[in-house]
Amino acid sequence: MNKLFYITTAIDYVNGRPHLGHAYEKVVADVIARWRRSLGVETYFLTGLDEHGQKVQQAALAEGKAPGVYCDELAAIWQAFAAKLDLSNDDFVRTTQPRHQQVLQAILARLHAEGRLYKENYEGFYSTREETFLTEKDRRADGSFDPAWGEVVRLQEQNYYFKLRDHQAWLIEHLERNPSFVAPDYRRNEVLGFLKNNVLEDLCISRPAARLNWGVPLPFDSDYVTYVWFDALTNYISVPAAAGDPGVPEHLRPRRPAPESPPHLWPADIHLIGKDILKFHAVYWPIMLKAVGAALPRQILVHGWWQKDGQRMSKSTGNTVDPLAVIEQWGVDAFRFYVLRELDIGPDGNWTDAGLEGRYTAELANGLGNLVNRSLSMLKRYRNGAVPPVSNELASEAEKVVAQTRACLDRNQLQAALLSIWSLVTRANQYVDHTAPFKLAKDPSQARRLDEVLYNLAEVCRILAVLLWPFLPGTACKLYAQLGLSAVPDRFAAAAWAGLPPGHVIGSPAPLFPRKDA
Ligand code: MSP
Repeated sequence: MNKLFYITTAIDYVNGRPHLGHAYEKVVADVIARWRRSLGVETYFLTGLDEHGQKVQQAALAEGKAPGVYCDELAAIWQAFAAKLDLSNDDFVRTTQPRHQQVLQAILARLHAEGRLYKENYEGFYSTREETFLTEKDRRADGSFDPAWGEVVRLQEQNYYFKLRDHQAWLIEHLERNPSFVAPDYRRNEVLGFLKNNVLEDLCISRPAARLNWGVPLPFDSDYVTYVWFDALTNYISVPAAAGDPGVPEHLRPRRPAPESPPHLWPADIHLIGKDILKFHAVYWPIMLKAVGAALPRQILVHGWWQKDGQRMSKSTGNTVDPLAVIEQWGVDAFRFYVLRELDIGPDGNWTDAGLEGRYTAELANGLGNLVNRSLSMLKRYRNGAVPPVSNELASEAEKVVAQTRACLDRNQLQAALLSIWSLVTRANQYVDHTAPFKLAKDPSQARRLDEVLYNLAEVCRILAVLLWPFLPGTACKLYAQLGLSAVPDRFAAAAWAGLPPGHVIGSPAPLFPRKDA
C-alpha cells in the first residue's frame, strides 16, 4: 500500500474545556489535510487528547471524580468540539486507550532492554504545575522561581532517566542537513541555537507511582508510571503501530496478526504544534525515535500563540475567547475564516471581536456572499437559472488565481492562499460593477453580452467553491448546492475553467453569510 500523507496535531490536555489556541491548531491541520485530499493524495489526520499526568489528576480531584471518569466525560466534550469545528480527522487518540499504552510500553521495554535507561537519585526543585524538575539555572537572582512554574517544591526521589547526550551531535547534523525539518526557519534556528549552546540533560521519564498514579506503568518497574510527555509524544506512532503500519519497525507493532492491508502512515509528514512545545518535539521526540529505530517525522510545523486584545488569554482574568460561543453566533466557517485569514502559521496573533466582525462583514458578507448571491440571483432572474454558453472572459485571471492558490497551499501558506482566493472575489465583484448586467438585461440587443457575463460569474463562483473547500467546507458545499451541483467540491482538479455545462440549471440562491447589522 502507498504511504499516506500523515498529519498530526498536539494532543490537548484534558484538564478543562477547549479554547481558541486548541481550536486554531486543529483548524490549521484540517485545512492542510483537506488540501492534500483535494489533490487526490490519500491523507490521514490524527488529533486527540493527552489524558495522563498530574494536571489531569489534580483537575479530576478538584471535581471529586476518579481520573478515568473525569477523562471520559471531558473526552466526549472534546470530540463533539472537533465535530463542531468541522474537522475531517480520521482518528481521535486518547492516551488512556489500550492501543496506545501497549505501544508505549513496547517502546519503554525496548529502551530498557538496550540499556538506554538508568535509575538515579534526584534531589532538587520540582514544579508541580509543569511536572518538571528545575535546576539552579531556573532560579532568579533572589533565589525565587518564575511564577509561571507555579508551586515549586523540594524533592528527593529515585527515577528512570533516558540518555540523551550521545545523540546531541547527530541531531544537530540532522537539523542542518534537513532545513525543512522544523518550520518556519526561525524556529529551526531556535532549536539549533539551543542544541549548540547547551549540553543536553538526560530526560527523566518516570514518576514514582506513590506520588502520581495517573499514568502508564513502566513495564519493567511497577513502582513507577511514565512521565506524561514521554507518554504523550508516542501517540503519533502508537496509533499507526497499533494498526499494523508497515512503516513502523516490527518490534514496536503489537504481536497479533496485522489487518490485511494496514495503512502505511509512518513517518509522519507533518507534526503541527504550538511554539511552546517545540523542544519536546524537535529535541526529545527525534531522539526517542532514533533510539527505537524508527524513522523521523518529515516536518515539525510550528504555529504561534493567540492573544486576546493584546493580552495573554487567561481563565483567571476572564480574558478568553470561547470558540463555541463564536461558532454559535457567527457560524463555524466565519470562525475558521477569521483565524486562518488573521494569522499565518508562525507568528503570534491577536484576537479582537471587532476584527472578527470586520472581516465577517467586509470579506464574507459583502465580499464572497454578495458576489455569489447577486451572480446566481441574476442568472435565475434573467435566464431562469440555465447556464449560458461557455465564455472565457475571466478564464485566464481565474487560472492565475488557481495556480497561485495551489503554490501557496503546497507551502502551507494558508493566509496567502486566502488572499489569493479573495483577489478573485474582488475581481469578480468589480466585473459585476463594470459590466452592469442589470442594465444589459434591459436591452434585448445585449442578450449575448449578458450571457457572457452571467457565464463568467457563475463559473467563478463554482471555482471559488473548489478553492474554498479546504478552508470553509460547509460554505463550499452550500455554494455547490446553490449552483445545482450534486457533487462535493472536494477535488482541486475541478478548479479548471469551463466546468459548468451550458444548459445546466442552477439551484436557489440564498445568502451564505447573512449580514449582522443588529
Ligand atoms: N498535552 C500537550 C501536548 C502534547 S503533544 C504530544 C499540551 N497540551 S495543551 O493543551 O497545553 O496545548 C495543546 C496545543 O495548543 C499546543 O500545541 C499549544 O501550543 C496550543 N496552544 C495552547 N494555547 C495556545 C494559544 N493561546 N494560541 C495558540 N495555540 C496555543 O501542550
